[in-house]
Amino acid sequence: MSYKPKVTVVGAGFVGATTAQRLIEKDIADVILIDVVEGLPQGKALDMMESAPIERFQASIKGTNQYEDTKGSDVVVITAGLARKPGMSRDDLLFKNAEIVGGVVTECVKYSPDAILLIVTNPLDVMTYLAWKKSGFPPHRVFGMAGALDSARMAYFIAEELECVPHEVDAMVLGGHGDEMVPVPAHTKVKGEPITKLLSPEKIEAINQRTRDGGAEIVKHLKTGSAFYAPSSSVVRMVNAIAEDSGEIIPSCVYLTGQYGIKDVYCGVPAQLGRKGVRAVAEISLTENEKAALRQSAEHVRENCAKLNL
Ligand code: NAI
Ligand code: 2OP
Repeated sequence: MSYKPKVTVVGAGFVGATTAQRLIEKDIADVILIDVVEGLPQGKALDMMESAPIERFQASIKGTNQYEDTKGSDVVVITAGLARKPGMSRDDLLFKNAEIVGGVVTECVKYSPDAILLIVTNPLDVMTYLAWKKSGFPPHRVFGMAGALDSARMAYFIAEELECVPHEVDAMVLGGHGDEMVPVPAHTKVKGEPITKLLSPEKIEAINQRTRDGGAEIVKHLKTGSAFYAPSSSVVRMVNAIAEDSGEIIPSCVYLTGQYGIKDVYCGVPAQLGRKGVRAVAEISLTENEKAALRQSAEHVRENCAKLNL
């Protein structure tokens, strides 16, 4: 029988619950779903288990409000936090979510000292840095999901433009998860062919910009919340690479120690993922403009991390 990790998903909201659903329906992991709201994770977990006879999965999910139940998790996915509300500044979100994520990390590491922490809560790069600091874990066991999502969005926009199958597009978006993210067209390919050979520079720039605005485009439609289908798929892609020890290279928010000329900060780069976490950072060739944009994006993350005085 193949290895099935114990995965705790913290936050039973849109992203957390959909992540949990995808993990069990694909039989990737047994899941503990935890939230501060009483009854929410229990109700959603039971509802999902009742779909097992139809969906035919064998994985299990348990909902709880007690961290004891998360004991011995192999992976902890943190989606707990607030989304931005009218009247709230980005800084408000930063400080409020820092409080939530800090508390969650402290509880999780108490019960799962050997886990991998996969952060999803926004602002993503800063929350990942905070989780690393609070956990005391080595950086290869603390990383964040954003590049996988931004790349999936870019891939979809390209598929739409070229009228091809979305999964035949392999896109690459680096940098922090914000307006300063860095799409990399030369490393974005359709069945191995770079899009620079398939689309005009104008079309590519329009797709790059739509990718940068991808989160906002969904918020504009939904009005009361943010994206969760593609985000949960992106988390599951990363957890699957860990569970299968696949070594798949996925754009991820990881700690940099000099790669791309960037040091001592978390930022989105292609990372090879496996059972122990980040195996290595892949250093791909970038244009001078892309390198400069990546460094600028990393500096922006660093400035926001400094606001937390960790
Ligand atoms: P949501 O509001 O649906 O869910 C958040 C959940 O966290 C709620 O159920 C809430 O009760 C729970 N929560 C709050 N404080 C908690 C605590 N101390 N302990 C445990 N649970 C707690 O929000 P949604 O849509 O699921 O988004 C979650 C986060 O993920 C947000 O910060 C959002 O911005 C971020 N996000 C990040 C993405 C990325 O690419 N990194 C993509 C999509 C969302
Ligand atoms: C997104 O990009 C909200 O960060 C989230 O959809």
